[in-house]
Amino acid sequence: MSLTSNQLPSEEEILKQRAALDKAKQLVAEKKAKLGRDLTCCVTTFGCQMNSRDSEKLLGILKEAGYRIIDSEDADLVVYNTCTVRDNANQRVYGRLGHLHSMKKKNPQKQIALCGCMMQEPSVIEIIRQKYSFVDLVFGTHNIYKFAELLCHLLTPHKGMLIDLWDETTQIVEELPVERKYSFKSGVNIMFGCNNFCSYCIVPYVRGRERSRSSEEILDEIKALVADGVVEVMLLGQNVNSYGKNLKEDITFARLLQKIEAIEGLKRIRFMTSHPKDLSDELIEVMKNSSKICRHLHLPVQSGSTRILEKMNRRYTRESYLELVKRLKNSIPDLSLTTDIIVGFPGETYEDVQDTINMVREVGYDNAFTFIYSKRTGTPAATMENQVSEEDVKKHFDMVLQVVQETARKQVSKFTGQVAEVLVEDVNEHDPALVSGRMSNNLLVHFPGDKALIGQLVNVKLVENKGFYYIGEQV
Ligand code: SAH
Ligand code: SF4
Ligand code: F3S
Repeated sequence: MSLTSNQLPSEEEILKQRAALDKAKQLVAEKKAKLGRDLTCCVTTFGCQMNSRDSEKLLGILKEAGYRIIDSEDADLVVYNTCTVRDNANQRVYGRLGHLHSMKKKNPQKQIALCGCMMQEPSVIEIIRQKYSFVDLVFGTHNIYKFAELLCHLLTPHKGMLIDLWDETTQIVEELPVERKYSFKSGVNIMFGCNNFCSYCIVPYVRGRERSRSSEEILDEIKALVADGVVEVMLLGQNVNSYGKNLKEDITFARLLQKIEAIEGLKRIRFMTSHPKDLSDELIEVMKNSSKICRHLHLPVQSGSTRILEKMNRRYTRESYLELVKRLKNSIPDLSLTTDIIVGFPGETYEDVQDTINMVREVGYDNAFTFIYSKRTGTPAATMENQVSEEDVKKHFDMVLQVVQETARKQVSKFTGQVAEVLVEDVNEHDPALVSGRMSNNLLVHFPGDKALIGQLVNVKLVENKGFYYIGEQV
C-alpha cells in the first residue's frame, strides 16, 4: 500500500502534524493501558550528521507520543534511519534486518520502520518488498516531518507494509518536537539537499535539490536552543558555502555566521560541510575576526590529482585547492584542516594516488577520512571505464592511510604543553575518573574530572600526546 501526499504550506503542515501527534499520544496511551506496560522505541542512525539530526526529530515525536526511548533493539518499535553513500552502509542495514526479523517473531507487538537516504532508491524498495516483507513502515527523506501521521498509522490496526515515498519536495517543515542527544550542543540544519552532482555521489539523488532555510528561522531556532542550555551549534548542510543562493533574501553564508555570532550566550559555532569551490574570501575574513567560530575547517579534497578531480566533477584543481589552503592559513594560522579522500575512483592510476599523497603532506591535514570508492548505481561514475581492480585499490588505500596517519600525528603533537579551552562532552567511556571534550580545533582531550563538568568550557593543559588525542589536566 502506498500513500500519495499533497504538500500544504508549512504553517498548515505543522498544525496538521501537531494534530496527528495528539492522536498518536492517545493511541499510545490506549495501547499501554491494554498491555499494562510501557511501549518502548529505539532509533538507530546510519550515516552523517544530517541523519543524526533527523533521528533527534524522530525521537522528539516518539517521546512526545508517549514511547519510552531505550538503547536496545529489543524495543517495541525499531526505526532504522539509513545511509546509502557507500555500499557497506546498505549491507549493514540488510544484515541487521535479518536479526530484527527473528526478534519480531518473539514479540508480536514489535514493529519495524525504515527511513533515510537508502529508502529513496527504487532498487532498494524492490528488495525490501521481496525479501523483508515483515517491515511495517517505509518512508523517505522528503516526508520525514510527517512521522507523527505515519506513527498513527502504525498504532491503528492495518495489514502489510506501508510505503510512503516522495520523489522531491520544496518544503521545509521544522518546529516539531526534537529530542537532543546532548543538552549543551546541537546540530542546526541551515540547508537541505545538494546541487553539485559530484560524479561518484548519490546524495543529490536521495536528498533532492538544494534548499536554504531563511536566516530568521535559523536564528530563532538557535536562540531557543541557547535559552535551553546549548553553548555550541553545528550548522549543517551538504555545501554550507552556497547557503542562501536560492533565497529571495539577500544573504551569504558569511553574513549568516555574523548574525549567529551576535547571539548572546552562544559560545561556539561549527559548520559542515564546505565545498572548496564555493569558499569565499568573505567567509575567511569573517572566520578570522570571529571569537566564536571554531578553528576547524573540514574541506573535502577527494583527490590530489586534477585529472581525477575533473572526472569527479568537483570543479576545482589541485592548484586552486592549494591556493585556497594558503589563503586560509595566512589569515587564520591556528586553523585545523581536515578532509575526505576517495581512493579507487574509476581510472585512478598509481601516479594519481601519489598526487593525493603529496597533497596530504603539503596541506598537513590534522585528520582525513579515507574511503574506498563505492560504485553507486545511477551516478555517472558507475558506468565509467577503467574501474580499478580490488587489489590495486587496497594497495593504494593502505599507502594513503599511512601518510594520513603520519601527517595527523605530526600535526597533533604540536600542541603538547599548551593550554586550550575544552568543551566537556562526556564522562570517559573507559575510565570514569576522566572526562572527555573537544578543543576549538576539534581535537579530543581526556582529563581528570567528573560529570558536573559536562557542558562547561574549561581550560586544560595538554600534558601527554597520545597520537590522535591528548591527556590533560584542568588549570
Ligand atoms: N557534501 C559533502 C560530503 C557528503 S558525503 C562534501 O561534498 O564534502 C561524505 C563523504 O563521503 C564525501 O566527502 C566523500 O569523500 C565520500 N563519498 C561520497 N560518495 C562516495 C562513494 N561513492 N564512494 C566512496 N566515498 C564516497
Ligand atoms: Fe555529494 Fe558532491 Fe554534493 Fe558532497 S557536494 S553531497 S560529495 S554531490
Ligand atoms: Fe548518508 Fe544520506 Fe548522509 S546518504 S552520508 S545519510 S546525506
